[in-house]
Amino acid sequence: MESVEVIGFLNTLLEAERAGAKVVAQFMESYPQGSEVMIKLRDVQRDEARNCSILLHLVRQAGGEPSHATGDFLHKALAISDPAERLIFLNRGQSWVARKIPEWIPKIADIEIRNTLKDMETSHISNIKICNDLISLSK
Ligand SMILES: [Fe+2]
Repeated sequence: MESVEVIGFLNTLLEAERAGAKVVAQFMESYPQGSEVMIKLRDVQRDEARNCSILLHLVRQAGGEPSHATGDFLHKALAISDPAERLIFLNRGQSWVARKIPEWIPKIADIEIRNTLKDMETSHISNIKICNDLISLSK
């Protein structure tokens, strides 16, 4: 059983990833099928969706009840119409996740949860790089 704060953090991550998965799925619709941007965003979207199911499991493993909410990042991101600006906003959210995970890891008792979150941090760092490349292409 993890602390209430750790469970709260895992649920915040779950809500953020749920928002991220929906945002990227929506962004993908504005690119032509089979285009480079679309293919790369599809991989990012898959990671976000996978993180949701991983985090659902982690919240339970930590002794908590998974949140069903979606982060308000969703509405903020969808309000942006410029393609490059949207990806920049997406990366701001992804960077928040990549920054918060290492801050919280020392507070987590379960080594499995810590290792899973480390992998999530790594995949965020690589997706941030992919999106940065797409941002350069969109400008
Ligand atoms: Fe994410």
